[in-house]
Amino acid sequence: MRERLENLQQEALKELEGSSTKESVLQVKAKYLGRKGEIASLLKELGSLPPEERKTAGEAINLAKNRLEEDIEKLLKGFEDKEKAEKLSKEKVDITLPGRTISLGRAHPVSQVMAQIEEIFSGLGFDIAEGPEVELDYYNFEALNLPKNHPARDMQDTFYINDEVLLRTHTSPVQIRVMENRKPPLRVIAPGTVYRRDSDITHTPMFHQVEGFMVDKGVTFSNLKGILTLFLHRLFGENTAIRFRPSFFPFTEPSAEIDIRCVICKGSGCRVCKGSGWLEILGAGMIHPEVLKAVKYDPEEYTGFAFGLGIERIAMLKFGIDDLRLFFENDLRFLRQF
Ligand code: PHE
Repeated sequence: MRERLENLQQEALKELEGSSTKESVLQVKAKYLGRKGEIASLLKELGSLPPEERKTAGEAINLAKNRLEEDIEKLLKGFEDKEKAEKLSKEKVDITLPGRTISLGRAHPVSQVMAQIEEIFSGLGFDIAEGPEVELDYYNFEALNLPKNHPARDMQDTFYINDEVLLRTHTSPVQIRVMENRKPPLRVIAPGTVYRRDSDITHTPMFHQVEGFMVDKGVTFSNLKGILTLFLHRLFGENTAIRFRPSFFPFTEPSAEIDIRCVICKGSGCRVCKGSGWLEILGAGMIHPEVLKAVKYDPEEYTGFAFGLGIERIAMLKFGIDDLRLFFENDLRFLRQF
């Protein structure tokens, strides 16, 4: 047994020496160390030895097996290292090559203004809410104190889907949806897309608005004035002159429109402000008691103000853009300027 083991070791070493490739080393490995290999069959024969010889013979076989394993692993690692080195020397990176330019996109001017408005109102503790663009007549009109046949429905050329369903003409229905689901105190803005049947240099059938409202015990018109003045100063600059004009909306009473001093001519009168020196920028007012009743708030207990503004118009004034349609043509030469 001892002799056979020694012969076997020598043979294996000789065969390894003669192996010049990874494959031939693997063949030697299988021949001696495999499950049906030479070492395995020696181990199997141990049982036929007299018991007192078994232990030493077993130890000798295991020792030989371990040595052989070590030798083979060393050889295999040598081949692998060589392969790796060859691969690396072929894969040289030329660090003098110029990099590929990645063209960066940027936010659409409407999105930029929207984000800025959201940031200002978030800073004042307002939440952001959303509502559906395909809306029920009830939320877009009825609950906003605009019953069927109300003449003010004509102000908003509506896309109807059927008698009860339409594309929302303003973001005001979100007021109703939020108030139905929550209790005052509420401070919320609702940005989104709105639709009207209108198309010329100053109107597109789809545009964007931001609605805002605040409801609590004791909210007054001076809260409305304070918040909106602060908002417009943040948006257009501290020195922007602002004026409040009486107006009418069915869902607010009293109602106001808010103008800023024309950003183009600074008030001397130009084409953009039609010579008046002022630009209308916001619709607003105290939420009408009928609207509060529609969402089951007690108008004796709670009051609130609401406002709405068009984003495209603000983006036009902020960036000095004179044609609304540019926003929707997606001409990269235009979009890259912002
Ligand atoms: N919803 C009005 C519009 O689209 C704007 C508005 C909102 C006015 C809230 C007053 C209060 O013209």
